[in-house]
Amino acid sequence: MRVALDSSVCQAHGRCYDLAADLFDCDDLGYALVIGTGEVPGGREAAARLAVASCPERAISIEEHA
Ligand code: F3S
Repeated sequence: MRVALDSSVCQAHGRCYDLAADLFDCDDLGYALVIGTGEVPGGREAAARLAVASCPERAISIEEHA
């Protein structure tokens, strides 16, 4: 599982990096950044899904591995 961010949609609400600081970081203006490749470590799938569900702009998505 991998998280992906559409930076053009992010409005810096900050819920993603508050909820999953190991998956998301932010820039100086509070816009989200995906940490590394976005690969979700084992055991963090629920946090990733919560971050996706909590973004008011729907800027985050999950890519499931085939
Ligand atoms: Fe941006 Fe959504 Fe996170 S608006 S800062 S991706 S909660």
